[in-house]
Amino acid sequence: MSGEAESADEHQQVCIPRAAEIAREAGARLREFFEAGVKTEYKGDVDLVTVADRTVEKLIRTRLGEAFPEHGVYGEEGTRDRLEGEYRWYVDPLDGTTNFAHAFPQFCVSMGLEHRPAGTAPDEDGVLVAAVIYDPMRDELYTAERGRGAQLNGKLMRVSRASVLAESLLATGFPSRKRHDSPNVHFYHEFTLRSHGVRRAGSAALDLAYVAAGRLECFWEFNLNPWDTAAGILLVTEAGGRVTSFSGEPYRLDSREILASNGLIHDELVALFGDLFAGRDLAPIPTPREFAEARAARER
Ligand code: IPD
Ligand code: CA
Ligand code: CA
Repeated sequence: MSGEAESADEHQQVCIPRAAEIAREAGARLREFFEAGVKTEYKGDVDLVTVADRTVEKLIRTRLGEAFPEHGVYGEEGTRDRLEGEYRWYVDPLDGTTNFAHAFPQFCVSMGLEHRPAGTAPDEDGVLVAAVIYDPMRDELYTAERGRGAQLNGKLMRVSRASVLAESLLATGFPSRKRHDSPNVHFYHEFTLRSHGVRRAGSAALDLAYVAAGRLECFWEFNLNPWDTAAGILLVTEAGGRVTSFSGEPYRLDSREILASNGLIHDELVALFGDLFAGRDLAPIPTPREFAEARAARER
């Protein structure tokens, strides 16, 4: 191992316990807001934001600055601190804002640490080295360190052993911006017909954590951002899974598509994406109008 890799290795070990404390404190704050109820504002068409998103990002930014004064912080609610640094945290203070705003208890804090050794170009990915995701409603803390596996509340976790899509439970999500441009409902339909089902629980970071914990075999989504995915990607890969684009190419943090799985069904998923993109093997369903006509005919 090179000197550089060793120092990254030592660094991530020190980072995890402190980052976990910060995530727990942030999660406790989210829970207080959740119990008190918050007013919802709009960032876009149906893109919601609340005082909880902003307050908790500020808290995490302050705590990370105190704990790791040289680290960069890149947060969903606008934090862009020290991005020239060797290490960078991708922070989503509240992943699952729509759920949160509706009192639907599925959301989390997500923090992923990237190592960007000297010479890494601005548009080049570094290496993900540490991850913390905290679900304050279930008190579940997911952590991962590069090369040291992934843990749920301190116990090693592994991806599931299901080996075929037909016996898998999947998850996906839908964007809150440019909803009319998203083709994902077609994929939702096709994957539903070929699996045990597709969940849409509303927190991409928790969906990835669930793949790592063996509760789901696959998660895919279009157009996520690094604050949604950085921590979850490391959880999945350290738990023995795979994360790529829909065509099986290595995942990049600015990628517009993510496919995460337990690894065993990954090739099958990539082949299916290929077929679906090519228009092969699509399963037609009745249109609402065709269904209404059949329904009316039954009633005659
Ligand atoms: C959203 C959630 C959701 C996903 C959206 C994300 P936010 O993040 O992760 O599951 O489908 O694409 O934007 O806005 O709640 O932090
Ligand atoms: Ca998010
Ligand atoms: Ca968010």
